[in-house]
Amino acid sequence: MARQSVRYVCQSCGYQSVKWKGRCPSCGEWNTLVEELAERGKVLNLGTGAKVLPLSSWEEESFERRSTGFTNLDAALGGGLVPGQVVLIAGEPGIGKSTLLLQVSDRFTKYGKVLYVSGEESGSQIALRGRRLGLSGQKLLLYPETLFENILGVIEQEDPSLIIVDSIQTIYSEKLESSAGSVSQVREVTFRLAELCKERGVPCFIVGQITKEGAIAGPKVLEHIVDTVLQFEGERYNFYRIVKVIKNRFGSTGEVAVFKMSDFGLEEVLEPSAFFIGEKVSAPGSVVFPYTEGSKPILVEIQALVLPALYTTPQRKTQGFDVNRLALLLAILEKEAGIFTKDSDVFVNVAGGISVREPAADLAVALAIASSKKEKPVPEDVVLFGELGLAGEVRAVHFGEFRVREAQRFGFRRAVVPSSLDLRIEGIETLPVSTLKEAIDVLL
Ligand SMILES: Nc1ncnc2c1ncn2[C@@H]1O[C@H](COP(=O)(O)OP(=O)(O)OP(=O)(O)O)[C@@H](O)[C@H]1O
Ligand SMILES: [Mg+2]
Repeated sequence: MARQSVRYVCQSCGYQSVKWKGRCPSCGEWNTLVEELAERGKVLNLGTGAKVLPLSSWEEESFERRSTGFTNLDAALGGGLVPGQVVLIAGEPGIGKSTLLLQVSDRFTKYGKVLYVSGEESGSQIALRGRRLGLSGQKLLLYPETLFENILGVIEQEDPSLIIVDSIQTIYSEKLESSAGSVSQVREVTFRLAELCKERGVPCFIVGQITKEGAIAGPKVLEHIVDTVLQFEGERYNFYRIVKVIKNRFGSTGEVAVFKMSDFGLEEVLEPSAFFIGEKVSAPGSVVFPYTEGSKPILVEIQALVLPALYTTPQRKTQGFDVNRLALLLAILEKEAGIFTKDSDVFVNVAGGISVREPAADLAVALAIASSKKEKPVPEDVVLFGELGLAGEVRAVHFGEFRVREAQRFGFRRAVVPSSLDLRIEGIETLPVSTLKEAIDVLL
């Protein structure tokens, strides 16, 4: 078929060429030339010839949010899906992305037809999963297809109220020569899909594969084009799953929705704190940390294990916590609190498969390590949080009050908090500390 004219554009300096080159002649970078269509559509239908008006004169668009059928997912999204919202959902293979989206599709049929486009599985494969999950929607349309132009036609024809594309890396446009999953294809297809969704006011979920390092596969622009990015986390061999909001143009980020995987698919967990600290042990090295990146705190258990090093180079291993941050904390523990781990292996684990990235976890992780090293348990009725500075000072963090209230709700009687926060909450004693040393003296 006749191809529209394409060009190769350097992603680093903007140099254009009609032929692909391994190295950009303009800036000298390698492998930066990417195939693009010579003529580009309008960006997200904002059009040309818009009015210039002061902020106060612009009327707020009134849109009705639609439920995904899961109350926790709705809450994490800021109250449900907005018309035209494009949501990218990424996660490890086999974590349950297709399962969750099939369940959402089924529940969304109350608003009209749902089009589930699958480039990865056949219709009968998905139908089999649907039967296992107990779904039997007449309005849930399965469409195993990878050619984008065909998908466009079906969207026009069926006029769905929700579109699912599973996964974006399998869809290709015939206008580009590069293969499905390449940077150019992923960018082009997402771009045009987003344009279409905005035009029609239809929300859409796009599944994105991730790389070995855990990043979303494909170009970074993918994340810029979509409105919302969700990260699906959890351990494949365990039954809990966490959906984290990484980006959201229609709500706050950092929100999480917790699910449980069962034979009948994903079930929402409405009390995540109870879930994550349900199996907490009262042994040295275990502490409870009120975690929050969004508005809703969750109590999680942080565990550390410090033991004599097996090899000459001691090991530092983490699960759910940044290993570089651990190195920093070990240095602070040594310098400011006299806790030496030079000759020890150190393991840190956030129980439940959730990953904790906020610095507010510093104090809890440091105390877990100190507790394991000294073989003394941290009292069971205590939670703790605070960021650690290089001089061993405990710094203030966000959402202090929310965190303490959540701890109080679950029957904790004391909270070790940064002294600069000046928190006083009824029903729970706050123990303000200003240094790591002080926290260790109070608790161990
Ligand atoms: N017969 C079954 N009974 C119970 N659970 C099952 C069954 N089959 C699959 N599962 C669960 O569903 C998970 C697979 O989910 P799903 O196919 O939705 O993952 P995915 O994220 O879409 O994976 P991929 O990236 O490969 O498409 C499995 O890891 C397993 O836990
Ligand atoms: Mg899948």
